[in-house]
Amino acid sequence: MFVCVCNSVTDSDIREAANNGACSMQDLQDELKVASCCGRCSDCARRVLHESLSQRAPAFTLAGSAASAGI
Ligand code: FES
Repeated sequence: MFVCVCNSVTDSDIREAANNGACSMQDLQDELKVASCCGRCSDCARRVLHESLSQRAPAFTLAGSAASAGI
């Protein structure tokens, strides 16, 4: 679905950016120009970004656990 109509940014674009390291709205604006025109998409873009980041958080948690366990 389109999140940012002004810049033709979809939720898939945001998820891909998050998977490639974007972790803030500033990162999304720099990479995709999302929310850089009228700004109406800002809340939705932030929500999609946070969903994407929360889905990849368990991998970091497991890696942290393994490191702290000396594995
Ligand atoms: S809809 Fe995203 S800047 Fe206008």
